[in-house]
Amino acid sequence: MCGIVGYVGSQSALDVVLAGLRRLEYRGYDSAGVAVLADGQVAAAKKAGKLGNLEKELTEHPLPSAATGLGHTRWATHGGPTDVNAHPHLDNAGRIAVVHNGIIENFAALREELRARGHRLESETDTETVAHLLAEDYSSCGDLAQAMRLVCLRLEGAFTLVAVHADEPDLVVGARRNSPLVVGVGEGESFLASDVTAFIDHTRTAIELGQDQVVELRRDGVAVTGFDGSPADVRTFHVDWDASAAEKSGYASFMLKEIAEQPKAVSDTLLGRIDASGTLSLDEVRIPPQVLRETDKIVIVACGTAYHAGLIAKYAIEHWTRIPCEVELASEFRYRDPILDGRTLVVAISQSGETMDTLMALRHAREQGAHVLAICNTNGSTIPRESDAVLYTHAGPEVAVASTKAFLTQLVACYLVALYLAQNRGTKYGDEIRTVVTELAGVPEALEQVLDTMEPVRELARSLAGHDTVLFLGRHVGHPVALEGALKLKELAYMHAEGFAAGELKHGPIALIEEGLPVVVIVPSPRGRSVLHDKIVSNIQEIRARGARTLVIAEEGDTAVEPYADHVVRVPRVPTLLQPLVATVPLQVFACELATARGNEVDQPRNLAKSVTVE
Ligand code: M6R
Repeated sequence: MCGIVGYVGSQSALDVVLAGLRRLEYRGYDSAGVAVLADGQVAAAKKAGKLGNLEKELTEHPLPSAATGLGHTRWATHGGPTDVNAHPHLDNAGRIAVVHNGIIENFAALREELRARGHRLESETDTETVAHLLAEDYSSCGDLAQAMRLVCLRLEGAFTLVAVHADEPDLVVGARRNSPLVVGVGEGESFLASDVTAFIDHTRTAIELGQDQVVELRRDGVAVTGFDGSPADVRTFHVDWDASAAEKSGYASFMLKEIAEQPKAVSDTLLGRIDASGTLSLDEVRIPPQVLRETDKIVIVACGTAYHAGLIAKYAIEHWTRIPCEVELASEFRYRDPILDGRTLVVAISQSGETMDTLMALRHAREQGAHVLAICNTNGSTIPRESDAVLYTHAGPEVAVASTKAFLTQLVACYLVALYLAQNRGTKYGDEIRTVVTELAGVPEALEQVLDTMEPVRELARSLAGHDTVLFLGRHVGHPVALEGALKLKELAYMHAEGFAAGELKHGPIALIEEGLPVVVIVPSPRGRSVLHDKIVSNIQEIRARGARTLVIAEEGDTAVEPYADHVVRVPRVPTLLQPLVATVPLQVFACELATARGNEVDQPRNLAKSVTVE
């Protein structure tokens, strides 16, 4: 939710921290702040609004030069986005500075206790209590790491905390429970951040911090302990994508860059997973073949766009494996007391690997004895670490808040899982699996074709900038595509957008159709199940007869839609089950262009954050 950076070394801490925050701003961008340790003092600055506001403040009122510091970019939970609520928070003596990501659930009780003991708390945040608690414990033990461990034992909820103390100028202390924090190990310098993009310019050697651990960061290395003080094993990993992957490379926005990267993201996700004979080998899927053969139910849990990927996956999984598959919003899952046992395979889909709703769903599933397979884009993140197995999507870093390349690669990963299960259980013959694999291998080229023909879509989007509502219709796998198209438009263009199953329209939503209302229709291939195609052509006629302006996405050569379409967007021919891979791209481009035409910032839409680490 929020972005955190910590640094100790010999460079300017402020420069390192600000550069890191720029990379992490996608995580939250309603206020930002920094603190450095200089001349035995904490010097801090914080500002509501984007990071640019803080940078302006720092130009007008520079901080002293320092080699130890921390910074924060916020997505507000407790207390609105104001200067006072921005992080870092200091204790009353101004000796400790703390930044935080997450929610401290027992903060109200802790704040009352602190007030009763004479502490003055100025903000509405849960974080400020931590600065005061640390001050109390530090005054009795004189050790910031020990004070952090003691405080963490009193906190309930999810948190990443990073703190510095004026009396310990060469030390940054971090702690994590249910919230991300990675350590970067450099030559004579060390880093802490919510994700590796913040320090990738300085080091590629990273350490995953485990659950309930405290890290002490010094120039010459790091020490990790549990909250109980016991030494912890550290797992170092190498970050294998380069810094340019986290930059815009000449595109006007990260979203445009990430849309353009989709052919490569898809081919990278397929890479190495199919051998020369066309047999799938998903090495990361460490769930024993016997367990996969005995699986009698699959439940997919995910949120937002990842949930839409799950809805599409259901069609492929059930068709290829004949295993019943349910798809559930992760935020609802554990509250309905789902029926799970050792024969249930739960698939948790998450780009970030840190989405709290998905994490809590998978924990619930494991407690009930289900096996959990994560589909994730972020190496070393919490969701894959807590799952029985993981299939990584190789989309590279996705920075724009709106998910694009992560979605397409999640679909590819789901298809691979479905085919792997089919191979394992013998529900598809080898040659049938090879046919689908070959079709998947052709998708990157099809995506290139789509991307090359997007100018009319952009033009159309600009022409609709003044509208208030856009509806999206689809059938079969086109229905989740319609939901995804509507989600993109809501989050980027701030428009009323809804996706419907086309057959459901006549049961109510058709009353929304009025003269000139734009309706995007995703048309299935006439070469697949033709009944689906014919039905949706009838739906287009129904809405057009009521005045809708019909924007139709149909495959090349499908002339049947032409008489009823005000605009036709062509996508290459691919099999029905794979069509979402090509049909979603025009909807991404459409939403991005429409949002831009309305003057919105596409990479950082209002009220949102890239990674939602609170429930
Ligand atoms: O990191 P995750 O895939 O778990 O994130 C899930 C959703 O928060 C995410 O897909 C969200 O809906 C996107 N902003 C939509 O574009």
